[in-house]
Amino acid sequence: MHLRLKTKITLIISGLVLAVVVVNSWLYMATLTRQVIRESDNRARQVAQEVFFQAQTALVDSAAAGNAPLSSSPTDMRNYVRGSLDQNAALSSLIDAEVGYSFLVYEVTIVDHNGVAMISSDASLPDHPVQPRTPLDQLAGSSFIGQMRVLFGPPRAYEVAYPFNLGPAGHQVPFGEIRVAVQTGLLRSEIAPSMRSAAWLAVISVLFSVLLAGVVSSAALAPLERISAQLDRISRGEFDQKPLERGDEFGQVSTKIVQIGQQLRGVREIFSTLRENLDQVLGGLEDGLLLFTRDGRAVMVSPAVERFLGVPADKLLGREAGDIFPPKHPLRAALRLDDGAIAPVSTQVELPADGANHPARIIGVSAQAIAEGGTRMGALVTLTDLESRERISTQLQVSERLAALGRVTAGVAHEVKNPLNSMRLWLENLKGHIPAGEEPQQAVRVLDAEIDRLDTVVKRFLDFTRPVEMNLVETSLATLIQEVLDTARPQIEHGKVCIETSLAPSLPPVLIDRQLLHQALLNLILNAVEAMPGGGTLAIDLERRADNAEIRIRDTGKGIAPEHRARIFQLFFTTRPGGSGIGLASAFRTVQMHDGSIDYESEPGHGTTFRIDLPLSRASDASTAATRAPEPSHTTVPRT
Ligand SMILES: Nc1ncnc2c1ncn2[C@@H]1O[C@H](COP(=O)(O)OP(=O)(O)OP(=O)(O)O)[C@@H](O)[C@H]1O
Ligand SMILES: [Mg+2]
Repeated sequence: MHLRLKTKITLIISGLVLAVVVVNSWLYMATLTRQVIRESDNRARQVAQEVFFQAQTALVDSAAAGNAPLSSSPTDMRNYVRGSLDQNAALSSLIDAEVGYSFLVYEVTIVDHNGVAMISSDASLPDHPVQPRTPLDQLAGSSFIGQMRVLFGPPRAYEVAYPFNLGPAGHQVPFGEIRVAVQTGLLRSEIAPSMRSAAWLAVISVLFSVLLAGVVSSAALAPLERISAQLDRISRGEFDQKPLERGDEFGQVSTKIVQIGQQLRGVREIFSTLRENLDQVLGGLEDGLLLFTRDGRAVMVSPAVERFLGVPADKLLGREAGDIFPPKHPLRAALRLDDGAIAPVSTQVELPADGANHPARIIGVSAQAIAEGGTRMGALVTLTDLESRERISTQLQVSERLAALGRVTAGVAHEVKNPLNSMRLWLENLKGHIPAGEEPQQAVRVLDAEIDRLDTVVKRFLDFTRPVEMNLVETSLATLIQEVLDTARPQIEHGKVCIETSLAPSLPPVLIDRQLLHQALLNLILNAVEAMPGGGTLAIDLERRADNAEIRIRDTGKGIAPEHRARIFQLFFTTRPGGSGIGLASAFRTVQMHDGSIDYESEPGHGTTFRIDLPLSRASDASTAATRAPEPSHTTVPRT
């Protein structure tokens, strides 16, 4: 049972007061009872003495009146004494008065040495043997509880016996005894009123103490409630609190709590900044990271884990490793989960295909134990997409090569263009002086055509090296794709290609350079059409994937031969007769300039799927990114 502190204090104080009252009342009652019994004993003894003296007087009076026993036989002696006592009116009235007017005395009897009553306040007793009762001083000597039991039990009589001796002083012989009986009922009525008032006093003191304890504990604990409210506010994040204005311990505690609140604010700010940074870092990671505690619970999961396990990171947080990697999961065996805790490991595992999004692939799995001071604190599991890592490195190489090429061509193209211009001028001059005749004219025409071709190539180089001003406009990608398809319609129809589109309508507009992206998509669609010379299906999907818009262009064409895979994004790489090898390089550049990524999967003989991811978040920083010149190494954008 949980009691409030206030209730506890009240109960404790009341309990203490109750204990003191009970002990005091007990002592008081015990003393009172003993005193009343002793007084009764004294009083009864006094009555017995008075009766004894009166009985002696009665015998003296009888002797003075000339009465004497018939003989000295015991019987005659007893008859003489009984007669003398009987005839003495003063003795009878003394006995009657003691019994009638005293609250205490219940019966007075004088018995002979055989215990036979001679005279008694009870008229039925004389000449009958009377059994002695329990002496009153025995009750006086018993315990308080024993006394209470007797006093409040069924009425009983106790007595005080006084020896009734006869004869001259110094030669007295025992003759009988004077018995004064006292009834317990009478004693009880003597004690009861004092007991009642003592009980009332006890009850009143206890009630008063409960009330007082309640008031005192409320007053004493009031600051505690204010401190508790202060703590509640701090835990809600309201760190600016005022300490209680008190000089006592409560005031000091409150001041310390306020200081702790301020420290907590600092810690919380640092923590949330760290958390944001960590989330950003984790969000940017290609690898999936899972941090497990010692008891195997996931406390940190990077968003990339979804790509490996197919479950969003936030749904994995707090779950147990055995639950995340259920029995038969390929990673369960790799992490040796069945043997207990996650074991340090570094291996490769084949993940089976997971719907259309993730084909079967080989991933790298590593687990490291995290220990502090020799104690195992948990484990970090890293999942690496080995294939995409390879693709990224290819893309980086291509990108670097393009940049290097761009820098070289910029210089060379300039150097070539000037002599070309001068050659063209001299050729124009020459044309007027050339003799008529087929051969010289033919030579001039060839020279003219070759200079033109060289000029076009140089122009393309120069276009590639010229910085491009991006003209970013919020654009619906679905509409743009439809426009590109309209542009490519003649080639599509001519190639007998069937189009299937699945364009998510709810996708928000994306901030892009319409013209550049139009051209990039057109290049990919034309490549796909050209890869299906005998006709086929071109499927275009647009959907949201995490924070990106993803465009997939899938054909059922001849696919890309493995030996060409690393080269298709290279400038001027082509396998097509009449192709210039600029289309994919240009598309690659355009996507890069939009902070996106381009990727493909291809199966020779079955088809190729190009995938472009464009960040949706660019839409939100539209104001800052209205126009932007690409970075120097990325500025060579061919416009084909
Ligand atoms: N969808 C595809 N299917 C098969 N191979 C492709 C596909 N797309 C591109 N390729 C290969 O990549 C090469 C480079 O393509 P790219 O678009 O850069 O140049 P191109 O199409 O040959 O010439 P152009 O500059 O006129 O577009 C192509 O020659 C082709 O071998
Ligand atoms: Mg092309």
